[in-house]
Amino acid sequence: MSQRNSNRNVQSYRPRRLSVSGGVDLLKHPTYCLAFSKFRSNTLIGINDFCANLRLANSFRHLPGAIVECGTWKGGMIAGLAWLFGPKRSYYLFDSYEGLPPPSEIDGERARRWQTEKNAPNYNDNCRASIEDARNVMQRAGIRDAKIVKGWFEDTLPKASIEDGISILRMDADWYDSTMCILENLFDQVVPGGCVIIDDYYCWDGCCRAVHDFLTRNNRLERINMYNDRVPFFVKRPES
Ligand SMILES: C[S@@+](CC[C@H](N)C(=O)[O-])C[C@H]1O[C@@H](n2cnc3c(N)ncnc32)[C@H](O)[C@@H]1O
Repeated sequence: MSQRNSNRNVQSYRPRRLSVSGGVDLLKHPTYCLAFSKFRSNTLIGINDFCANLRLANSFRHLPGAIVECGTWKGGMIAGLAWLFGPKRSYYLFDSYEGLPPPSEIDGERARRWQTEKNAPNYNDNCRASIEDARNVMQRAGIRDAKIVKGWFEDTLPKASIEDGISILRMDADWYDSTMCILENLFDQVVPGGCVIIDDYYCWDGCCRAVHDFLTRNNRLERINMYNDRVPFFVKRPES
């Protein structure tokens, strides 16, 4: 195939009007900044990444389907998305609401050390949050019927059936097993052209490995992109 044709194929599964590389100063965007100020106390995500998540997600607005976050903590990030997208969509929040499980061997020494250093400023009680925090913040975002599913992913995700499919899947669960479990159970429910955000792709080795292992094992050709130098994601290709 000529270079020209192969380029055209690449474009066909990139979202329209989306500049993948960096450079946009999202702190000048009043809507995204307002969302951050509303929900900042319920998220561990800083303002730059928060606004970049919103803008990236917004470029998939034309797609039908639910917005799903696996690994919500107190729910501030998905509340920001819900506030932006409004109550006509479905929102699903999956979390143990008991904090992170122990990392596995494959997550590496750094992950194990993180979980033992309980006085470190970013420990946050092992990312423990209550389901009430998540419920309250979704109500503040104007969503009365968010589906908030408490439990370990291995128990909850195999039973998850997302009506209308998933337009945006936010994975924010740090470890290999958690990320793999999300992909094994929810990837098939992402609509073609849908967006999968991989919050921890650069942060935790286990997350990165799980994404690569999953894509390879399933013979998938999705490419990992970086939105505005801040948000790793891929776009689900239509089946070939
Ligand atoms: C870094 S926090 C999520 C941060 C959040 N998205 C925000 O906006 O700040 C990771 C979350 O993943 C959840 N988690 C990780 N692995 C899990 C699993 N296997 N089952 C259920 N919850 C899990 C933890 O309980 C924790 O709340």
